[in-house]
Amino acid sequence: MDRTLVIVKPDGVERGLAGEILSRLERKNLRLVAAELRTITREVAEVHYAEHQERPFFGDLVDFITRSPSLVMVVEGPKDTFAVVRLMMGTTNPAEAAPGTIRGEFGIETTENLVHGSDSHESAAREIALFFPGLAAS
Ligand code: RTP
Ligand code: MG
Repeated sequence: MDRTLVIVKPDGVERGLAGEILSRLERKNLRLVAAELRTITREVAEVHYAEHQERPFFGDLVDFITRSPSLVMVVEGPKDTFAVVRLMMGTTNPAEAAPGTIRGEFGIETTENLVHGSDSHESAAREIALFFPGLAAS
């Protein structure tokens, strides 16, 4: 089986969409392996989004992801689970995300785009180890 990290971001939890988003993943037949409602610390956010450190939106991104609790989860599927989840999420800018996707259905602004999913097998392994140390990536 193959695992990936999914986060319902603060906007999703604040708006009461955590259940809807988890439900979509479960209905897809992805299995929930770990889940915790937690306020992500600035230290963890800066490591998690380290690839964006030099980008102009980095400060806003860290402020946003740490502002209130997120639902941090690991889900499991047969193969390339990160890609399955990314397809269900839709593109980064919700205004352009396809109808039917999570961002396409529920979002309108790039920062408040509801959900995070690892973008590769390597990212999934790194992020699962960061948020759930001790839990294997697969
Ligand atoms: P995520 O990492 O959160 O799953 O989102 P993603 O892969 O679709 O997008 P990524 O390029 O990794 O960007 C991470 C988050 O940074 C914010 N962002 N803002 N203002 C902007 O141009 C901009 N670009 C990205 C978004 O919140 C995005 O989810
Ligand atoms: Mg990303």
